[in-house]
Amino acid sequence: MEKKTAKKSPGGVSRRDFIKGMGTGALGTAVLPPLLGQTITTKKGRVLVFDKKTIALTVNGRKVSLEVGANETLLDVLRDKLDLTGAKRVCDRGECGGCTVHLDGAPVYACMFLAIRADGRTVKTVEGLAKGDTLHPVQEAFIEKDGYQCGFCTPGFLMTTSAFLEKNPDPSLDEIKHALSGNLCRCGNYAKIYGAVGAAAKKIKGA
Ligand code: FES
Ligand code: FES
Repeated sequence: MEKKTAKKSPGGVSRRDFIKGMGTGALGTAVLPPLLGQTITTKKGRVLVFDKKTIALTVNGRKVSLEVGANETLLDVLRDKLDLTGAKRVCDRGECGGCTVHLDGAPVYACMFLAIRADGRTVKTVEGLAKGDTLHPVQEAFIEKDGYQCGFCTPGFLMTTSAFLEKNPDPSLDEIKHALSGNLCRCGNYAKIYGAVGAAAKKIKGA
């Protein structure tokens, strides 16, 4: 019998790797209450888990400081506290990629990442992709190539694609499919999405 290969997530890592990479971020949303008052490991080292904590973020180039709950996700904070609703809450369980944002330049599922773990880090949402009135080449390509139907999944695809093309500016179709395999489109518009990613790569190369 054919062995099933692991599903791939943003950035071309398997879903298993992606969840593992989330570490306490993924686990934490489920098990944080028992951790209150204890320490967890973050990029900054060991930190005490508080009920509430003030964190500082740079979001779309703007420095913000805000109080977050110990079990609040980055998606909660972006959507509910900063009014940045471009990242979509769809599955809210790390399955669809609708909530994808960049954290220090890498795509992450914001619904699976604890806000306290983003302390001191840089976040970019789809609202920060364009430069003023000038769309990002990926946004332009999605418009020109009809890379969306209802558009609900589009912010996630734009964020995954823009991070991917930074790393791989000349991808093959297989590489594009692989990189986007952690983003789901319920309209099934994949052929046009892949075409848009290829067009975006050409635009960026020619820019
Ligand atoms: S809403 Fe985050 S992965 Fe689906
Ligand atoms: S365009 Fe509708 S879910 Fe993707």
